This record gives sequence, C-alpha cells and structure tokens, in this order.
Amino acid sequence: MHEIIEKINKLKKERKAIILAHCYQNVEIDLVADYVGDSLGLSKIAAKTDAEIIVFAGVYFMAETAKILSPNKKVLLPNMNSGCQMAQMIDLARMQEFKAQHPNIPVVCYVNSTAEVKAQADICCTSSNAVDIVRSLGVKKVLFAPDCYLGSWVAKKLPDVEIISYNGFCPTHLRLVPDEVKKMRILYPDAAVLMHPECHQEVVKLADFVGSTTQIMQYCERSKKKTFLIGTEKGVVDRLSRDFPEKEFILISDRLVCHNMKYNTLEDILYVLETGENEVFVEENLRKLAYGAIERMVATKVN
Ligand code: 13P
Ligand code: SF4
Repeated sequence: MHEIIEKINKLKKERKAIILAHCYQNVEIDLVADYVGDSLGLSKIAAKTDAEIIVFAGVYFMAETAKILSPNKKVLLPNMNSGCQMAQMIDLARMQEFKAQHPNIPVVCYVNSTAEVKAQADICCTSSNAVDIVRSLGVKKVLFAPDCYLGSWVAKKLPDVEIISYNGFCPTHLRLVPDEVKKMRILYPDAAVLMHPECHQEVVKLADFVGSTTQIMQYCERSKKKTFLIGTEKGVVDRLSRDFPEKEFILISDRLVCHNMKYNTLEDILYVLETGENEVFVEENLRKLAYGAIERMVATKVN
C-alpha cells in the first residue's frame, strides 16, 4: 500500500491534481485525499480550487457537480461504476412530468441528482443545508426532488411550508428500520443516536441529532458522550473510530453500506491519474443551467 500511495502523491504534484473524497469512501482513500467531507463541503472546494485536475472519490453526481462548478478543470471519477441509486431514480422526463403536475411552484433539487435534473430546478440543496435553503425561499409551497425522506425532514422542521416531494429514496439508508434503533437504544442506554435525514421518517424520529455526514462527525467530536449509535453509511463510523479512539462508535445496522461508494480503490485513483481516463463531461448549455441552481445554493447565506 505504501508504494501505491507514494506513486499517487508524486503524480498528484506532477499533474497539479487534488483528490476529494466523500466520507462514505473506503477509509484508506483518506491516505491520499486532500479533503474529506460531505457533499456541500466538497462542492465548495471544487468551486474554488486552483488545481488543474480534480479526482473525485465519490459517486458520479458528485464528480459531475464538481465539473459544473469548475468547467475548465479536468474532473476524473476513479471508477465509473460509482453511481448513486437515488440520483438514478429521476431523469429529465420524470422531472418535467413532476413539474407539470404541480405548475408554478419553486423547485428545490437535492444535489443527489443528474445535471439534467438540476437544470430544471430553481435551487439545489444538500443534506446539510436543505432546511435553510427551503426557508431562504420564503414561500409557502415547494417541489422537492428526488428524496422524499429528506423532503419529510424539511417539512418537519418547517411546518409552515408545504413540501411536495418526488418519491425517490436512498436504498442504503432505507435499510434501517425503527426496531433496530429501539433495540440498540436498549443495549446502549447512554449513547447518543445520530441519523442522516435520508433515513425513513419513522427512524429519524428516534434520533437525538439529525444531520449530514460532516454534521454528524462534528457532533460526535464536540459531544461529551462516550458512545454513539450511527445511522448513516459505514464510512462515517470508520472515520470516527479512527479519529476519536477514546470514544465508541457503533453502526446501528451492518447493512448501512453503500456499495456504489465502495467501488473506488487506491488502484483506480492511480490509474486515472496515470491515464487521464474516466473524465466527466457536461454539455455546456446544460452545465450553465445546472450551474445556476447550484450557484444559488452556494451563494445562499445560511445561519
Ligand atoms: P452528505 O450530504 O451528508 O454528503 O450525503 C450525501 C449522500 O449521498 C448521503 O447518502
Ligand atoms: Fe446515493 Fe444513498 Fe449511496 Fe448516498 S448512500 S450515494 S444517496 S445510494
């Protein structure tokens, strides 16, 4: 492993590349990553980096978002099998149909979506800012796509806004069921329970804290508690256990693994740096439209 890391680091310098990694990636990717974080944090870095190449260790929509924000950079996805199942649940035709069924309502699009779908939205959001973004619109009704569970979470936090959600979901987070959480609470009565808002609303109800991957990690860092039950993808537990060995982090269900996120390997990263293959492209007119929705999100001031 040492040898491959050295090769990647050498090529990174030669090619003026940076490596961005989502915190659901295989944990060894962090050994070469310049930044590790959630979708929002990584998008912000992709927007302002002066690197010439961005290697995005994440799923396709994340690399595509980086390309939309930084069109003059070469964006490489280490393994092209890394797609997000939720993003694939809605395409352009379905998004248009959804809008046609509910005309003249502002459309908020979760970044876990394709460029074509983002291009149909007024503004994007991520799991860390969805509530703030919807609140910032100051309207009584919004269309929300594709994740109906993130939509339910926003609706719960903003009872004065009617959220009409598309029926997409994350198959990984939906594997968690309320009984598993209740059983774990009995086994670990002193633990804090943390959930990602992509979980089912009946599961989210049982949490002490709900947030994006980075927000969950920050909560654990700051908390005085010693034990944490984690309701999001395994990569978060791997990183927390590594970074805070004095605390205990337990994945609520061992089925909380996003296999699509795990395709990218160190070998794949070396390969794309060596060959420049697996480049992500977005057609320019489409890019400009999708950029508008992402840029409005990035520019929105949130508390
Ligand atoms: P974050 O917004 O927390 O990065 O989550 C992205 C994701 O794909 C969750 O499943
Ligand atoms: Fe997509 Fe779910 Fe995997 Fe996140 S965890 S990348 S939403 S399939």
